Amino acid sequence: MIIVCPSCKRQHKVDESRLSDKVKAAKCVFCGHKFPIPKPGDVETEPPAVAEALPAAEATASSMRRIAVSLSKGGVGKTTTAVNLAAGLALAGFNVLLVDTDTQGQASYMLGVKPKAGLTELMTGELIPQECLVKARERLWLLAGGRALAGVKRLIARKDFRGEMTLSEALTPFEGQFDYVVVDTSPGWDVLTINVLFYVREVLIPVSLEVMTIQGLLEFSRSLASVQNYHRDLTLKYVVPTFLDKRVKQSEEILQQLTSYYNSRMCPPIRYNVRLSEAPGYGKTIYEYAPGSPGAKDYRDLVRRVAGNDELLS
Ligand SMILES: Nc1ncnc2c1ncn2[C@@H]1O[C@H](COP(=O)(O)OP(=O)(O)OP(=O)(O)O)[C@@H](O)[C@H]1O
Ligand SMILES: [Mg+2]
Repeated sequence: MIIVCPSCKRQHKVDESRLSDKVKAAKCVFCGHKFPIPKPGDVETEPPAVAEALPAAEATASSMRRIAVSLSKGGVGKTTTAVNLAAGLALAGFNVLLVDTDTQGQASYMLGVKPKAGLTELMTGELIPQECLVKARERLWLLAGGRALAGVKRLIARKDFRGEMTLSEALTPFEGQFDYVVVDTSPGWDVLTINVLFYVREVLIPVSLEVMTIQGLLEFSRSLASVQNYHRDLTLKYVVPTFLDKRVKQSEEILQQLTSYYNSRMCPPIRYNVRLSEAPGYGKTIYEYAPGSPGAKDYRDLVRRVAGNDELLS
């Protein structure tokens, strides 16, 4: 059943079968208000359509692009890329859903929002889908990650059947609601990463220009290939060099090697730019914090590349 908080008017999906007779009051996860639980006859039984709460995207289920930003190695710029790609696409006029599947929950921090709910509540079915989203910017919606996702991983691991489809099933209500779904992944390789790769059709790999990352890229490509055996629509679409520093000889050499290997999949590099590391501290995207910086320019180039339109954001 759906219970509406009498204070903030937000909706909560409650599994009646798990409510014992002794539970008489509820606490709203959004505003903290405590209130008596209404009797079943007093409440709405059907959740409102998700479309009511979301912008009317022109996407259809098949045209909605789903892009994972992923690499097992940590600190290569996944979250910075996911956030600034998603925010840039939204600035360019697309409706975008950013999904943070990392227990670090850094996408919210980078966007300066403090969601009370997110991907965990969606995947456990605790809340109705639109209550799990937060509107972070104009046309940009966030399904936040965070520590509670650890419990979701356990839940997936316990499933006997179709565990790898748990995320895809949870995201079904948003099908066709957005032009782009950008998914940030955590470092490492776990059940949630596998779920992301079964959900998306495109993978964007940020590669920091260091020898160790190239090693990680080879390992990740092998793991990706093992998922592709079961999910034929999955393609490694973009390789994005990050932390390019022209003063470092090795950085240029690795860039050349990557370009010769990945050729058409290579994207314009993201330079090392201190503004990119400062922006999250202010809860701002690079376009808001330092619109004239090399970091903002590089991410605008990436947005144009992904959208396939050189005219955007110019
Ligand atoms: N091009 C860049 N220039 C300078 N600093 C950057 C750049 N890209 C990212 N950073 C900074 O580097 C750090 C790591 O970036 P980020 O968090 O995006 O990596 P990540 O791959 O998501 O890490 P994790 O694997 O832990 O999730 C952050 O402090 C970020 O602000
Ligand atoms: Mg990250």
